[in-house]
Amino acid sequence: MFNEEVKRLLNEQINKEFYSAYLYFDMANYYADQGLAGFENWFFIQSQEERDHALLFRQYLLDNGESVELLEIAAPNTKYENFKDPLVKAFEHEKLVTASINNIYEAAFKVKDFRTMQFLDWFIKEQGEEEKNAEDNIKKFELFAGDPKGLYMLDNEMKARVYTAPSLVL
Ligand code: FEO
Repeated sequence: MFNEEVKRLLNEQINKEFYSAYLYFDMANYYADQGLAGFENWFFIQSQEERDHALLFRQYLLDNGESVELLEIAAPNTKYENFKDPLVKAFEHEKLVTASINNIYEAAFKVKDFRTMQFLDWFIKEQGEEEKNAEDNIKKFELFAGDPKGLYMLDNEMKARVYTAPSLVL
């Protein structure tokens, strides 16, 4: 049995990860509309990874005898101003997710819930990678997407991303 606050935050994180999946799915749809299949692919895979994160939190709760309460997932409601806009919004979003993971870690630390802290270690590292990837996308866009040829080549690079299941096994 977890501390109530830790449990509440873990359960909420399932919702936040599904929201992330929904947000990136929305961005994938935007790029699909714009004819940028590589950017679409990158965000579609990102969406799949976020769903995986949600499932890891679900499994962790269940493995520890806790029930899962699914909460409503908000619509992304995001309008994109240009091709770069989703990249910027994705980076901002990842920083929010990092803060949320850190918040759960802090709650677990306060009640000496070392098991949850160890579980969250993977997510702490993962967030570092996700923020870096999101920031790299912005940098690459600024460097190379200034003309149609550069955008075409960057789109091709984004097309090469492949889905891999998360390395964390519970
Ligand atoms: Fe599940 Fe992008 O953090």
